[in-house]
Amino acid sequence: MSTENNKNKKYLTITFGCQMNEHDSEQIAGILENNGYNPAYDLNEADLIIINTCCVRETAENKVYGLLGRLGKIKKTKPDLIIGVGGCMSQQEHVAKRLKQRFPYVDVVFGTFNLHTLGDLLAKARETKQQVIDIWHEAGMEECILPVKRVPGIRAWVNITLGCNNFCTYCIVPYVRGRERSRSPESIIKEINELGQEGYKDITLLGQNVNSYGKDLKEGIDFADLLTKVNSIDGIYRIRYMTSHPRDFNDKLITTITGLSKVCEHIHLPVQAGSNRILKKMNRGYTREDYFDLIEKIRVAIPDVSLTTDVMVGFPGETEADFRDTYELMQEIKFDSAFTFVYNKREGTPAARMEEQVPDEVKSERIQKIIELQNKITLENNKSDVGKVLECLVEGPSKTNSELMSARTRTNKIVVFRGGNNVIGKVVPLKITGCSLTHLEGENYAL
Ligand code: SAM
Ligand code: SF4
Ligand code: F3S
Repeated sequence: MSTENNKNKKYLTITFGCQMNEHDSEQIAGILENNGYNPAYDLNEADLIIINTCCVRETAENKVYGLLGRLGKIKKTKPDLIIGVGGCMSQQEHVAKRLKQRFPYVDVVFGTFNLHTLGDLLAKARETKQQVIDIWHEAGMEECILPVKRVPGIRAWVNITLGCNNFCTYCIVPYVRGRERSRSPESIIKEINELGQEGYKDITLLGQNVNSYGKDLKEGIDFADLLTKVNSIDGIYRIRYMTSHPRDFNDKLITTITGLSKVCEHIHLPVQAGSNRILKKMNRGYTREDYFDLIEKIRVAIPDVSLTTDVMVGFPGETEADFRDTYELMQEIKFDSAFTFVYNKREGTPAARMEEQVPDEVKSERIQKIIELQNKITLENNKSDVGKVLECLVEGPSKTNSELMSARTRTNKIVVFRGGNNVIGKVVPLKITGCSLTHLEGENYAL
């Protein structure tokens, strides 16, 4: 694609879904800027709009169809507008078909494996004035290492694995993201080195199951070894990682983490359910007892650790007793926070074909109970931080109150405090003076 043609053209990406998708959008932005586009700040000023979609639940898909309806109206008044749809949702055959039939004004449809071809697809759509649909079903790791246009700041995401081999019976991700592939340690280290030089300080290593990093590599490296390498990179202050799978969180990893100064005391460890019967039907590969044992080991090794989770209610066949197991597990473990999900049937997954789907009213009752419980626990845990002095990395002005600064604890909690721009990017000790459900309040203890 000629960059000259795009010189005064502006693009906007709209992203649904998880951090991996957010990071893919940073790569899409990288590709577009390499092709001469400049960023737009709203729908109206954009000449090109790329929607990066998610299909983990139906609601995410419906939002995309709603948005496409709105964009169709804009395109009537602005016929040169180019619309692209990519990501997990368009990777599914039936969705690509629907986009073709119902949304002929979408110019380009691509999938999760061929982001790197976006420049060519856009050029072809412009040239032919036809809808261009190109969905790949596999790609090597090399094709997935693309230019990245990150939001300037302190935090950056780095892919370490793509895809997933776990096939939890409810989940569509392995079907739309493919089998797990690990990125070479050299490539990861090179990217993080560059990030350190550019001033990024807080790095999150991304993968659907980071703990199984390296299993497909010849190097004989595992996730603990990778963390050890990353820990020695200059300029980086903090290392985070997500998501961890309870089955693969082994003793070596726990011991390694305790010895690495930059690896933060926060572990996101999705439990999904507290009932052994449901965990088995979900194909999670651990029992309730295994999960409790793991939490115990982690808490002994890392006493200040913050634990967060994903939990789901309403999986097919979930009885009141199964739900109680989940509720009681959460009461006992007291996670710092939890992403709560209502099970949603995903076409093509084994759970969608299971009998005994739970009625919607029961699902919504259960999710309400879980959310209420978790909110209470989150607030209690936050209150227990009041009075402590915590090492916080300052990220910039607070998003909700520009008179305050926003910083992050090693345990991934946000602390707002009074401070000047001179502390951005610095680690400061903050004394925690108050809290709410969403954040802590503090004051600079160094002054
Ligand atoms: N790989 C991560 C793991 O194993 O925990 C999570 C990836 S998934 C994108 C994020 C969360 O979405 C899952 O932890 C699960 O709770 C939720 N999820 C996945 N499929 C779902 C479905 N069919 N209905 C509701 N929630 C779902
Ligand atoms: Fe989905 Fe399970 Fe893979 Fe997570 S580990 S992405 S929930 S299949
Ligand atoms: Fe993420 Fe949604 Fe895809 S959660 S991996 S964007 S299906």
